[in-house]
Amino acid sequence: MIKLGLYGAGARTKTLLDALIQDHFYCVHAVYDLVPQASKALTEQYGGKVCNTADDLICDPEINAFLISLSPFAHAEALRKVIPCGKPVFVEKPVSFSAQEVRELAELAEQYQVPVQVGFMRRYLPQTLEVLKFIRENEPGKLLSVDCNWFHHGDTEMNYYLQHSPDDFRLQVSQIPFHCCHMLDIMLLVGGKFKRVNSVMQKVFACPYPSPDDLIANIEFENGATGRFHYSSMVYYGEISYRFHFENYSIKLDCSQNQIEIFRRPKFRTTQLGPDPVGTIDFGKFNASYERACFPQTINFQNLSSVNENIMYDFVQMIRDKHIPSADLRTAQHVQELAEAIERSGKEKRSITPADLY
Ligand SMILES: NC(=O)c1ccc[n+]([C@@H]2O[C@H](COP(=O)([O-])OP(=O)(O)OC[C@H]3O[C@@H](n4cnc5c(N)ncnc54)[C@H](O)[C@@H]3O)[C@@H](O)[C@H]2O)c1
Repeated sequence: MIKLGLYGAGARTKTLLDALIQDHFYCVHAVYDLVPQASKALTEQYGGKVCNTADDLICDPEINAFLISLSPFAHAEALRKVIPCGKPVFVEKPVSFSAQEVRELAELAEQYQVPVQVGFMRRYLPQTLEVLKFIRENEPGKLLSVDCNWFHHGDTEMNYYLQHSPDDFRLQVSQIPFHCCHMLDIMLLVGGKFKRVNSVMQKVFACPYPSPDDLIANIEFENGATGRFHYSSMVYYGEISYRFHFENYSIKLDCSQNQIEIFRRPKFRTTQLGPDPVGTIDFGKFNASYERACFPQTINFQNLSSVNENIMYDFVQMIRDKHIPSADLRTAQHVQELAEAIERSGKEKRSITPADLY
């Protein structure tokens, strides 16, 4: 059984523990949190001992792996302490708000040969896994574009934390690197490395919420595809959606509807041109067979709770079976590069390339 050292005893740590608690893959061995009461409450529920300092946790020789989930401003420092112990690590996103810092941490992990999994949870959603599987199993042809929307009403989050927890880190971070990092991760998974970003950003309402009011980023990928990322905190409905346009099919993924729709380009010349291309001069009739072939294959998802199970099972396999984690610190570096490029381009009103970030 894997003996876990927990660095942070907040809500997310408990959710991650709960995902596999029945399966006895691991037990909680020791916990450190800045707030001793938080460590105490966690050990009462999950077992293990309370550590009074981070060093007590890190130096415990019985720990097999670490799980770090803190304020995002504290992740980098925790990783710098934990990586030299040489044990596998799970760290929540975002690792840092600086691509330079994430790159240094990735280099540190490589130097110590320590596998580090990063909590890019949306790649573990059943519908994302299905899209990635479909792309792997069905020749997509050339990728043309990736188009994504992340809309929410930021008011609700801002009002809640101002009222109940004005020091909460959520009031100090922009949603682009903090929350939309999940979407940027998927964009890079499908689109590959990015070459250049051009953003237009609006920040017109005075409020203590660092996220842009609205931002549209045009992204050029190295492979020639284009991306569009639209974030808004001033939309009065929620939407997290993706459109992937390939030569051979288009995929719509609407997370709020838990649905994927796949539209294929008609495969056969006869479907593309109809049975009598020379004789059919009526435009509508000429295209009827083409249009009929473009109906969507729709897949609905009822139960999305397996996402935390999936992410934690990846963690178990990284420790137990020495698997390479699906998302590591290099992934986090590239995601943070894109987040930083998007925001810098909006603020500086110019194109940003990855080289501009270092
Ligand atoms: N991947 C996901 O889907 C997902 C979901 C929720 C949260 N998260 C991430 O998980 C992290 C934690 O979120 P949460 O909701 O559990 O927050 P939380 O406020 O409930 O817990 C954070 C804990 O970290 C402790 N802490 C903060 N700084 C510390 C430090 N320097 N040393 C030791 N302890 C410290 C706090 O005392 C608190 O107990 C965040 O970084 C967040 O981005 C990820």
